[in-house]
Amino acid sequence: MFFYDVILIGSSQIITIMPKRQMIIAGNWKMFKTSTQAKEFAHAFHKLLPQWSSCEVVLAPSYTSIPVLASELPSYVKIGAQNMHYEAEGAFTGEESASMLKDVGVQFVIIGHSERRTLFQEKDEAIHLKVKTALSSHLFPIFCIGETLSERQQGLTEKTLERQILKGLEGVSAQSFSHLAIAYEPVWAIGTGVAASPEEAQAVHHFCRKVIASHFGKEAATNVRIIYGGSVKLSNAYHLLIQPDIDGALIGGASLHAEEWAEIIKLTQQVVA
Ligand code: PGA
Repeated sequence: MFFYDVILIGSSQIITIMPKRQMIIAGNWKMFKTSTQAKEFAHAFHKLLPQWSSCEVVLAPSYTSIPVLASELPSYVKIGAQNMHYEAEGAFTGEESASMLKDVGVQFVIIGHSERRTLFQEKDEAIHLKVKTALSSHLFPIFCIGETLSERQQGLTEKTLERQILKGLEGVSAQSFSHLAIAYEPVWAIGTGVAASPEEAQAVHHFCRKVIASHFGKEAATNVRIIYGGSVKLSNAYHLLIQPDIDGALIGGASLHAEEWAEIIKLTQQVVA
């Protein structure tokens, strides 16, 4: 899970310093691409990608494209789902359970995306149940938080994020923070082309890590990967990803283009170098 930075002092002394968390580059396709288009993407992507990656790569297509991507993408690209129900089974028309997702090769699940919160009225309580179910089912949750523009303008960013973290992750054990990621996605930056600046994003990630440290302990805060989402593209990815508290990215629009997506993944090699 960790890469260690090693520095040389003088000619021979070696000191190990702060571990770096392994980056996650996750794509969120939302409601784009049929399974035929997903197959075309996989073929294009295959030719563009290196044989290995220094970061963890995740792609979350629509449900119908999961099987084709699970079989056509290189094995280091893990498959994610964009949502999941918290119950194991039952009369929940239109929903998918953790075991159904795992059965078709899903390993990661995006939970509490702002589009689910705002367009589908998902509340902190349901999101919390989904996080718990994902963890107990050995699915890796990418738990999304983020303030709206009006919350930011009213100076409520920190309060909003703290509430989302504490409600969404209530009762989660300190050890579980190695098995989940938090995606900070300011709602005003999603799909707008206007990302948070690297400095703004770093400050918020640092704040979130402090919240985790004070409520779940230092180890949880050191281990948890906090990734940034909201208009990440090839032109701004590097400056966001080199920030010390930014451990990767959740990418919508730019993950739909095989070439740009592959370039962002390759770029993480320069970030960890
Ligand atoms: P975007 O979407 O990269 O298109 O802004 C990010 C997301 O919604 O996860």
